[in-house]
Amino acid sequence: HTDLAAIVESGTVDVPDFPKPGVVFKDLMPLFADGPAFRQVIDGIIAHHGEGSFDVVAGVEARGFVVAAAIAYATGTGVVPVRKAGKLPRKALSASYELEYGEAALEVHEDAFIAGQRVLVVDDVLATGGTAAAALELVERAGGTVAGFTVLMELAFLKGRERLSPRTVHALLTV
Ligand code: PRP
Ligand code: HPA
Repeated sequence: HTDLAAIVESGTVDVPDFPKPGVVFKDLMPLFADGPAFRQVIDGIIAHHGEGSFDVVAGVEARGFVVAAAIAYATGTGVVPVRKAGKLPRKALSASYELEYGEAALEVHEDAFIAGQRVLVVDDVLATGGTAAAALELVERAGGTVAGFTVLMELAFLKGRERLSPRTVHALLTV
């Protein structure tokens, strides 16, 4: 899907020194704001995994919510938000992780999934993989079965894919 990679690339802006000096932040918001490009990217993710291969979509706060909601709407599935610590109103499971630029914890409601429900986990960017590792662990601890993990962009030099091994990652664009 070289065409999809090109669409993601052209919808991305490099922001030097955000959120701290030395980090070049990949901003995908121009892609989200471009209707035809966003639709092609969402349709491409669904085509890759196969409609019917998942029962619900888990999106990682905050930009993963945008991707998850679009996939869920297009496939008639639902969304389960995987949230930053302290945001969920009911009893939640928690997993802490390190970021490229800090430390945090993710949470999911303990009753978020029906046992064995097939969960497509999505986010905008895979960097070090800390966020993804925590999200995937939470989905399984909450009783879901990971049906796939997809990001729009993978920052290969941060080796997230290796960290997640033997889990597999689907990335539309690897830089
Ligand atoms: C970004 C991105 C991923 C994560 C990737 O989110 O959306 O969730 O970092 O980094 P990692 O692979 O090194 O863990 P961020 O934590 O900036 O949160 P936000 O979407 O709420 O801005
Ligand atoms: N862009 C978006 N999300 C991120 C990045 C980035 O460059 N690095 C870690 N998470």
